[in-house]
Amino acid sequence: MRILSGVQPSGRLHLGNYFGAMKQHIEAQNEHESFIFIANYHALTTVQDAARLEALTRDVALDYLALGLDPGRACLFRQSDVPGVAELAWILSTVTGIGLLERAHSYKDKVSKGLSPTVGLFTYPLLMAADILIYRSDLVPVGRDQVQHIEMAQDMAGYFNNTYGRPVFVRPEARLNEAAVVPGIDGQKMSKSYGNTIDIFDDPKAARKRIMSIKTDSTPVDAPKDPDQCTVMALLRLLAAPDEAAEWEARYRRPGMGYGEAKSRVADLFEQRFGPARDRRAALVRDPARVEALLAAAGRRAREVAAQVMRDVRAACGIVTSS
Ligand code: ADP
Ligand code: TRP
Repeated sequence: MRILSGVQPSGRLHLGNYFGAMKQHIEAQNEHESFIFIANYHALTTVQDAARLEALTRDVALDYLALGLDPGRACLFRQSDVPGVAELAWILSTVTGIGLLERAHSYKDKVSKGLSPTVGLFTYPLLMAADILIYRSDLVPVGRDQVQHIEMAQDMAGYFNNTYGRPVFVRPEARLNEAAVVPGIDGQKMSKSYGNTIDIFDDPKAARKRIMSIKTDSTPVDAPKDPDQCTVMALLRLLAAPDEAAEWEARYRRPGMGYGEAKSRVADLFEQRFGPARDRRAALVRDPARVEALLAAAGRRAREVAAQVMRDVRAACGIVTSS
């Protein structure tokens, strides 16, 4: 069973990204053969500055390694180390009707948010399908917004297999990241675009300050509080052990607990959880050759898997290449 995740390099990592996606990606290494790639070709649809794209790409690798991805178990690589995905995207485009892409929600959403409607943005799902199919991935963990893209990859696998009468591709299945939406310091969904994030690798003092500034209601200390309406409690549920979280819920419902106390506990738990990762990340930053060597080795491994599948693809459609 092969599980594959792709992450667009998009900037500083926050608690929402971690609990909403990355934690599940890292944990997959304990269950399955796990491939995780940094979608730098996809990022070209939004980042068009070479130095920035390079830095963002490297940051994703540092984040994953620092947070516990084990390069001995999971294969963490750059999308661009397998250029065959661009070839496969082309081949898939020749068996896919335009109507399928025209139905993509994500294209319309992105254009309505002001992204430039390039051909690349429109054909994004083809490259994504190629990413998935080229490793014969069985399972693809994604957020809800990406489910339609996985369904498109399933369709494209079927179009290709039917057109050429051979079962070259396996049907990938989506696995929904089950984590609930992580709220930001203003109570809305945590997101870079809302400026309400708590960043995992922030300086510890700054992170504590952000946590202490979480918006709460004005219920006084001596009144009971509703744990289900509180951002601080939502973060305690994510960061504390289940017993401790249950205890905080009970304390919310009794008079005498102040939000300041709960926030301070969130800040302590945050530091306990991410402090060691911050140190690991700092050590990796000082050793870029090691990080590059890990990415390059993983890239070679991914390329080998992809090369086998591409041999089948080319044979199925009669594309001859000299070796
Ligand atoms: P942002 O909204 O900060 O730009 P992205 O869209 O880059 O975040 O998200 C990257 C991944 O992190 C996606 O898989 C997304 O589902 C997940 N994610 C982002 N914010 C949250 C959140 N507040 N709660 C849960 N998951 C989130
Ligand atoms: N589109 C995905 C996102 O924005 C990233 C991605 C690219 C991906 N290729 C993929 C995810 C293949 C899973 C599988 O989050």
